[in-house]
Amino acid sequence: MTLAHDPRSRPARGTGELLVTGATGFLGQRVCRLLKARKVEFRALVRLTSVRSAIEGTGAWMVEGDLTKFASLAAALEGVTTVLHLAGVVREADPEINRDTHVHGTRNLLTACQEAGVKRVVAISSDTVLRADRDAYAQSKADAEQLLAHWDGGEAVVLRPPMMLGAGSPHLDRLLKLSRLPVVPKGPGRRPVGVDDVAAAAVAAALDLTDAPDEPIDLVGPDRVTLGELVALVAEARGARMKRRTLKLGALERRFAPEPEVDDRLARELLGWDPKPLREVLTAALESKR
Ligand SMILES: NC(=O)c1ccc[n+]([C@@H]2O[C@H](COP(=O)([O-])OP(=O)(O)OC[C@H]3O[C@@H](n4cnc5c(N)ncnc54)[C@H](OP(=O)(O)O)[C@@H]3O)[C@@H](O)[C@H]2O)c1
Repeated sequence: MTLAHDPRSRPARGTGELLVTGATGFLGQRVCRLLKARKVEFRALVRLTSVRSAIEGTGAWMVEGDLTKFASLAAALEGVTTVLHLAGVVREADPEINRDTHVHGTRNLLTACQEAGVKRVVAISSDTVLRADRDAYAQSKADAEQLLAHWDGGEAVVLRPPMMLGAGSPHLDRLLKLSRLPVVPKGPGRRPVGVDDVAAAAVAAALDLTDAPDEPIDLVGPDRVTLGELVALVAEARGARMKRRTLKLGALERRFAPEPEVDDRLARELLGWDPKPLREVLTAALESKR
């Protein structure tokens, strides 16, 4: 289905062999800009409610579809050989919406891809799948990974980023609020990463990777920080100097649960993974806010 009311709409055929889902999102917008820089013709799957202006100027041909509506996907996939599957819900507590989007949505997409003859699906999972204590989001992402692992329609490449930071990140907004408090939450170490580095890895996995590995590719940030240290780095990046004391904040700390030990060997070997230091990511993100 194409968007009759969108002046840039045209039949999906002939508008590129790459389809991006989640193109209008935090990560997707960066991916679209990278594809434009590489002069790749591509389509973006957008919902009726999507804010299309977010990817205006990237050259994306917008095709209408919703992962939870199987029938909406066939036309979008006509002639497509590679799918960059970034769509997801990241701030949704409702288990049903998480399941609908990540599990049923991925199943619908994979079935439609198989029917369309898609050769490679690159999907963004999450490092939360590695936690022993999974919430609804992490469980649905883990179940989606299983579907991808057993897809026999073509190659599936699974990327697992941790918390992504950059301009426009909701995580960053929360961290900024925390950085204005005189106390910092106590919490275990994690390795957040810049969203631009994840976007570059996703594009490399779609366009440059010769063979898909049998295992997911962990995208680990270069700096291990506790939540308190991360908040302090955010404060430093916005030029604030304040003495803080640490405080135990149960619920928040659970959201910042310890990250299991993973390494980025595969990412470095296969995708040229060389993520920017956290301090640099935060400074750039806050500069663009000024
Ligand atoms: N943000 C993080 O720190 C983080 C960390 C690890 C992994 N991830 C994963 O990375 C991916 C991208 O995250 P993000 O932060 O860019 O998310 P985001 O900003 O919330 O964007 C989500 C995108 O998915 C689309 N989408 C949601 N439900 C859909 C559906 N049913 N059908 C079609 N499109 C749908 C949204 O479209 P609309 O514009 O129409 O809403 C939007 O384009 C997700 O898979 C997420 O699980 C994120």
